[in-house]
Amino acid sequence: DRPFSEKLEVPEALTFDDVLLRPKESRIEPDDADVSTRVSKNVELNIPILSAAMDTVTESDTAIGMAREGGLGVLHRNMDIETMVAEIERIKRADELVIDRENVVTASPEQTIAEVDTMMGQEGVSGAPVVDDDDTVLGIISGTDIRPYLEVGETDEVREAMTDEVITAGVDIEAREALELMYEYKIERVPIVDDDDTLVGLVTMQGLLQRRENQDAAHDGDGQLVCGAAVGPFETDRATAADEAGADVLFIDCAHAHNLNVIESAREIKDAVEADVVVGNVGTSEAAAEVVDFADGIKVGIGPGSICTTRVVTGAGMPQITAVAEVADVAAQEDVPVIADGGIRYSGDAIKAIAAGADAVMLGSYFAGTEEAPGRVITMNGKKYKQYRGMGSVGAMKSGGGDRYLKDDEDGEEFVPEGVEAATPYKGTLASELHQLVGGMRSGMGYVGAATIPEFKERSEFVRVSSAGQTEGHPHDVMITDEAPNYSPDE
Ligand code: XMP
Repeated sequence: DRPFSEKLEVPEALTFDDVLLRPKESRIEPDDADVSTRVSKNVELNIPILSAAMDTVTESDTAIGMAREGGLGVLHRNMDIETMVAEIERIKRADELVIDRENVVTASPEQTIAEVDTMMGQEGVSGAPVVDDDDTVLGIISGTDIRPYLEVGETDEVREAMTDEVITAGVDIEAREALELMYEYKIERVPIVDDDDTLVGLVTMQGLLQRRENQDAAHDGDGQLVCGAAVGPFETDRATAADEAGADVLFIDCAHAHNLNVIESAREIKDAVEADVVVGNVGTSEAAAEVVDFADGIKVGIGPGSICTTRVVTGAGMPQITAVAEVADVAAQEDVPVIADGGIRYSGDAIKAIAAGADAVMLGSYFAGTEEAPGRVITMNGKKYKQYRGMGSVGAMKSGGGDRYLKDDEDGEEFVPEGVEAATPYKGTLASELHQLVGGMRSGMGYVGAATIPEFKERSEFVRVSSAGQTEGHPHDVMITDEAPNYSPDE
């Protein structure tokens, strides 16, 4: 009975460009700002950044790079379950102090020098412990040991060339001790053995240096890199497999999680796994209220993404700053972290999302141009680009992700896409992109005078910006001559 005209008494919903942070008294230098946060109830990060679960953004290379810098990569799910399990295992192994026995490449004393040379090349290692049939460590063989033999004695056996005085250590060795051993004996790898000299693992110099370089890496309780994985709303098999493989956070990957079938299934998945379960995407307080009692995190974003056409195709959506704030109000009551997903073009957008109530942000296009991203490199007019496509684009749905949009069509003929296939300028490494992104966010915290993310969420205030104000906020009345690393006039 309600008059239709009442529907026109509409609330206003705002997005990134509509607001700015009000500058405040401060003693906080950007370098002192602590950007650590929680992405879900039990998973902490050292930077509040996630890479999107998209097939042109996050596979294991991106996820390893993200975790090494303190963030979280969320593996996309346009891959079969076995591949996803292998990807999770690869991330988990990447920066381990002790490489487990099953992953240590070993040589046998009877192998020929030529065989071991080929094997080391194929496995991508520069040395290997030599073990007998019982796995007892007899020696160690490295590139340096075999080089003199390669031309003249290729058929000699490993036992001739190996170093047989091996420095080994026990399983409880710490990184510092391992490094001291390596420096003292000028060696690059230390086999880890049990009381009977049986090989149980390996510590390498390369692994140690990698760990030292990334002191802010995000680790799980076992010291391995953290890893996220997307699972379809009804994919219990994928969820349990990813959980068993060691994923720390599973992301129920759905474009409209305020669908009651999706929520029921998400609850079942939550009960079936140990990992934290983030539910998304939602964009309203009503949706947040439906999931806040069981979700370990809530992801927000209905149509803000750079490659999204959800809003124009379906007529539905919520401008992102309002969506984040609505959801964060509900999530705060149960202390559930909120992730703002999509639409972030600049570091300023990312820190505005946090001011609106998010604990962390997820980005797709920002990372799609990096070396680590899986997309194809394309050259157009002499410039390099990388492929970037929406997971609701025809191409991505044909590769398997249609159920994110609650669509299933094997031929792809009848899909109604909610995303486009595009290209984004080829950028440098993920680490350099993250440096700019997080650096800008720290500066934003400095302008507001907040030393931590929780304090920033509390202390920050917005002002509303007019369209004249928006124009004023970008470079204007000049011709940019040198591109800045964190601002592109094309964006
Ligand atoms: P950005 O703006 O960072 O957004 O590139 C990445 C996020 O966009 C979402 N996404 C989509 N949304 N149609 C949509 O409406 C799509 O095809 C699509 N693909 C990805 C997703 O939440 C991602 O994290």
